[in-house]
Amino acid sequence: METHKQLTIGLFGFGVVGEGLYKILQQTPSLRASIKKVCIKNADKKRDAPADLFTTDKNVLLNDPEINVIVEVINETEPAFDIVSTALKNGKDVVSASKKMLATYLPEILALQKRYNTSALYEAAACASIPVIRNLEEYYDNDLLHSIKAIVNGSTNFILTKMFEEKLDFHNALLLAQQLGFAESDPVLDIEGYDAVNKWTLLLLHAYGIVEHPDNIVFNGIQNIQLSDAVVAKEKSYDIKLVAQAKKLLNGKVAAFVLPQFVKQDDHLVFVKNEYNGVVIESNFADKQFFYGKGAGSFPTASAVLSDLSALRYQYKYEYKKLYHHKPLEITNDFFVKAYISFDDWKYIPREKFEWIEEWHAESQRKYLVGVLPFIELKENKWWKENNTSLILSPEPIIEDVEIRKLKKKSLELAGIV
Ligand code: HSE
Repeated sequence: METHKQLTIGLFGFGVVGEGLYKILQQTPSLRASIKKVCIKNADKKRDAPADLFTTDKNVLLNDPEINVIVEVINETEPAFDIVSTALKNGKDVVSASKKMLATYLPEILALQKRYNTSALYEAAACASIPVIRNLEEYYDNDLLHSIKAIVNGSTNFILTKMFEEKLDFHNALLLAQQLGFAESDPVLDIEGYDAVNKWTLLLLHAYGIVEHPDNIVFNGIQNIQLSDAVVAKEKSYDIKLVAQAKKLLNGKVAAFVLPQFVKQDDHLVFVKNEYNGVVIESNFADKQFFYGKGAGSFPTASAVLSDLSALRYQYKYEYKKLYHHKPLEITNDFFVKAYISFDDWKYIPREKFEWIEEWHAESQRKYLVGVLPFIELKENKWWKENNTSLILSPEPIIEDVEIRKLKKKSLELAGIV
């Protein structure tokens, strides 16, 4: 009996990922998947594929009854949502790599799949070649997943590696990331953390059943990190990484954010260099597990699309177990974080907002402190992102509400204040 179906693909986008997929499919005839048509925006651009494969009319693909899968790897959010939602409504399964679109329209994508009994897969949208979404979805039970932290943006990790290890300046490191096809067409999305928080939104859904708009998650990128921060990091034997983190707290809710962080040398994330991504999962019994692989680039991203296509041959769908079959978890801002903050002038730092400050250096031109803040302060105010101020979380940054009084007393005792 035939248990898997032939896939006839309508492909939207023939950029870094689309062309990568086209080439990979030519090398994997065993998959029984063929691209019937490719929809592109600009018909005049020279492409390394037969001209009759291309069209600029989206309806040629979306209304073709023979096409049973739409692969959407374009850049623009609204057109991507239009394509994906129409395809799902038309009974076609979808594979998408548009993390921004998926994160922005998550409730709609969930509802469309349910209503039209179609499947939308998007492994390529987070950590590219690392099979993290299906893994979180299938393997980890909600109650066991203690925490997850990850490097989810290849470009910023590439830039930090080139700047701090190979002494390239920021501009040239970014240029290189662009040339290699890692960066978004608007690199601000990478640099300022938007891309990472979009990916984190997707992983939070599959890890904990959380459906949250990326705007509601505290995040930053690497735009404020200074060379002087790297000097301090080195003195303390830390690396600086842009880390996405989520941790289940004692109150049963989840602390989640994407922020630059000091990472200790024995942390798995230290090994993640250049455009690689890494995910460290901590569960109650398995302890720590580390996933590692290329997080950007043509073939690594196309390989995840290919894996989704392969899964569709067996009618695979995300069950969204944590959302539909467990009690979905909620995000909380009710905890504290320990952070290093460097700044040009004390007037930019609201000292009264800190629970305590345990280290400060004010003698040099660039000043810095290490202190503990209620997380809600980062959510509600933006002083820590403005006026050239740079906030980098400490290695174990989360302090739970129940611990804070005890720790505060201890730190004041150490400082000789009580
Ligand atoms: N701009 C993204 C990154 C591409 O650098 O991670 C992969 O999603």
